[in-house]
Amino acid sequence: MTLLIKKVNRISAGDNIIYLVSNLKDLNRTKFNEREQNYIRKQHKKNEKDLLSINRLDQWIFVHIVSKKHSQHKNLEELRKTGSTLCGWLNNHKAESATLIDFTGKREHVLAFVEGMGLSSYQFLNYKKDKKKDKFSFSELKISAHAVRKEEVKDLNIIIDAVNKCRDMVNEPVSTLNAEKLAATVKEMGAACGARVEVMGRKKIESLKMGGLLAVNKGSFDPPTFTVMEWKPIEPINEKPYVLVGKGVVYDTGGLNIKTGNYMENMKRDMAGAATMASVLYAIAMTRLNVHVIALLPATDNRLDGNAYASGDIITMHSGLTVEVINTDAEGRMILADALSYAQKYNPELVIDAATLTGAAARAIGKYGIVAMEADAEKPMMKLKEAGNAVYERIAEFPFWEEYAELIKSNVADIKNLGGAEAGMITAGKFLEKFTDYPFIHLDIAGPAFFDKKDGYQPEGGTGIGVRLLYAFFQEIAE
Ligand code: BES
Ligand code: ZN
Ligand code: ZN
Repeated sequence: MTLLIKKVNRISAGDNIIYLVSNLKDLNRTKFNEREQNYIRKQHKKNEKDLLSINRLDQWIFVHIVSKKHSQHKNLEELRKTGSTLCGWLNNHKAESATLIDFTGKREHVLAFVEGMGLSSYQFLNYKKDKKKDKFSFSELKISAHAVRKEEVKDLNIIIDAVNKCRDMVNEPVSTLNAEKLAATVKEMGAACGARVEVMGRKKIESLKMGGLLAVNKGSFDPPTFTVMEWKPIEPINEKPYVLVGKGVVYDTGGLNIKTGNYMENMKRDMAGAATMASVLYAIAMTRLNVHVIALLPATDNRLDGNAYASGDIITMHSGLTVEVINTDAEGRMILADALSYAQKYNPELVIDAATLTGAAARAIGKYGIVAMEADAEKPMMKLKEAGNAVYERIAEFPFWEEYAELIKSNVADIKNLGGAEAGMITAGKFLEKFTDYPFIHLDIAGPAFFDKKDGYQPEGGTGIGVRLLYAFFQEIAE
């Protein structure tokens, strides 16, 4: 646990304090004396800042005036960001704990602010020699707020922990996290949260005729894995399960179509989709959401070797469809396709996949959102967009017109693994759709899955994008 968040009834004397207020009138309710209140009012007037502070010897007291300037979603995001700014400040000043006192009476305000603090308390220290030296000092946040229930604080800790588990997996390099290690990590997560996990190895994958996963794996020293993680409560709200599919390319060199220049940099991130789906399922199981969800995680690295798959190869996929390989760097869709057709056996209510699938998606909208498409899933897509706005993991929906499927027709096989030069994120989606026979949502997280530098509560490296989004989506379904 990076930041322990807990609800308290009593405020320990001398602890750092953070007041959340709706406006400066609330200052009367604080423990500030007259002079201090005037000082804060003056500070506010002079700087027009919404985060104000007073220092009493070694005690710091902050006041944050919650903005009403924007839409609800944006106001909540501002709270997360202010929470993260404050957290940075507390760490810089070597503070260890603080108590948040709420005078707004709004649970969503408190939870967003605290979430921002929690999410920004993440560090990847696995390979630091002197962990103690580098570790953030700020490690305990106490909340005094009538509007927030103990249960909600407990769930928030779980969700932040799930996001951090996802970030950890993404940040782990391929030398320590190959396909088998990824599967073993998911197995551990399953044991911790009470979800069933089955890991299939090369033999089983061969007997299932998962031609796409096996083709990508041909140039690899390490075997592929196909992991099934399932959370099934006794009387789930849904009759047919929701299936989540995550791209688990533990490293993408491009294969024989090798990535040139600096395009291979940080391609350890290419299993972010799998990490996200495992982490969402972990959070769902830990908080005992009453929905039946299954995650399918195909995993391998994409390397080049004497036996690596090559352009021109024609691969028979798990579904029986044949694929002409045009470019070995379009490997994500090859392994996802097998998982998507495998998903048909569950007769699912809806399948959602998450993948760092195309550079085109990242180029189109950058790191600020998720590129999405849907087939026969208009309503769930609307719900997903709402969840996306609420947690600020926003969704940009792209067209999914049938004309795009023309671009992946092949002369020698049923389809090919690459469209034209245009709309690469959409033709990739269309490729995946060929392996579905159920309502389907495709999430291309190539842009937001990994940050080159820290931005607000998102650390450098893996962000854990999609975990909070999908958790919010399923929470709504479960209620
Ligand atoms: N993993 C990459 C996509 C990617 C790019 C993810 C940048 C994150 C950041 C994917 O496998 C890939 O290589 N896509 C190629 C496809 C091309 C060969 C058609 C791309 O988008 O350049
Ligand atoms: Zn690739
Ligand atoms: Zn890839």
